[in-house]
Amino acid sequence: MQTRQSWMERCSEVLRGNQPDRAVLERLPYRYTCPAREKGTYLPQWLWDSCFHAMAYRWFDPGMAWEELQSLFVRQFDEGPDAGMVPHMSYLAENGAVAAQRLFGQKDCSTITQPPLIAVAACAVHKKAPDKGILAKLYPKLRAYHDWFDRRRDDDHDNLVAIIHPWESGWDASQRWDSLMGMNPRGVEALRALEQKRENLVPVCAAHGYDAHVLARVPGAFYAEPADFNAIRAADLLALAEIADELNRPSEATEFEARAQAVRRAVHDKMVSFGGGEFRAHDLLGAAEEKSLVDHAGKFVLMFGQCLSSAEAEAVSAQLFDPVGAFTTPYRLPSTSRFDPLFDPKEYWRGNVWLSLNWLVWKGLLAYGRTDAAAAMVCDSLALVDKSGFCEFFNSVTGEAGEKYGRSCPRNQSWSTILLDMLQGTTDE
Ligand code: GLC
Repeated sequence: MQTRQSWMERCSEVLRGNQPDRAVLERLPYRYTCPAREKGTYLPQWLWDSCFHAMAYRWFDPGMAWEELQSLFVRQFDEGPDAGMVPHMSYLAENGAVAAQRLFGQKDCSTITQPPLIAVAACAVHKKAPDKGILAKLYPKLRAYHDWFDRRRDDDHDNLVAIIHPWESGWDASQRWDSLMGMNPRGVEALRALEQKRENLVPVCAAHGYDAHVLARVPGAFYAEPADFNAIRAADLLALAEIADELNRPSEATEFEARAQAVRRAVHDKMVSFGGGEFRAHDLLGAAEEKSLVDHAGKFVLMFGQCLSSAEAEAVSAQLFDPVGAFTTPYRLPSTSRFDPLFDPKEYWRGNVWLSLNWLVWKGLLAYGRTDAAAAMVCDSLALVDKSGFCEFFNSVTGEAGEKYGRSCPRNQSWSTILLDMLQGTTDE
């Protein structure tokens, strides 16, 4: 059995091993951690990855955790209609990410975002290593980010924000987006074609000024209000309220609490169903808000955003652990129901396991006091790393490294060290 100390050492080794080369770091105002470095993959900074990195670092290197978060705002858009947006990828030029530069038509960063988890991460780091000075610097930037969401991504004013590209969901290749992408991909070639379609969508966004309201109505464009993304946003707004409180801004804290509550209510009222006793969280697709029927593990993230009543959370947690249930695979948690016709336990976002997702579900279970269920999530996560190390993602049937197009994923992925946070339990809350 490994001790907490030895887990900390292992996680530290993975994260430190994934920091950019000195020549890159020297050009940056703050340090950050690449998602992975194997075979030259994933060298820029990614938004939600860095939130997970910071929450792992906080246990052994809080200074680095704070830098990781501050680094995310260096490329925050400061002008134009998208002022306030935090890009999902930064430091393209520094890493020679020429293809991405070309795709996004930008030297420094991408032109789309990712799940907003930065305030959550900042609160977590602050609990471990309080620094009101940094928090005060981050606060207006976080505020601008959430204001941007309301201004640019809630065009129908229903308190649910939309994404305009699958990459924004963080669930790039998921079955959740197949219908909007106009494909039912089976096999490697079809999945490659789907990836090409994702690339082709970027110029479509650009041609329409990244305007969600317009894109919702453009044939062939992408517009979805995802359930988990909005639940994460509710949690982030609540964390922002906590930050405002910590900075002695009680009226702003009240405002953010109300905004979080409005998002929770909208998620609950528009996305949740318990038809036949079975819990679903429906992504809303297109301007017509068609309720998606794809059953995915993002529904469990609704607990993270506290979008369910306690009775509902109890039912959901029972379903999560139902021995014959849709999400019971030998290794958990599969991203997609194992009953989905296109379920694939090894393939990228098509039924594989991600520890980042496990963390969100673990945290959600704790929020509803379901400590036994939360402990089971920790065991499941531990079993994966014990077997296969800190893979980017895992095969939900064998527990081995997952695959993308027949090739094994990176084995030292930074965000999988979020396991460390799960092992430290709730000692800081
Ligand atoms: C993949 C994942 C995305 C993640 C990125 C960097 O694109 O789908 O969620 O942020 O890799 O790790």
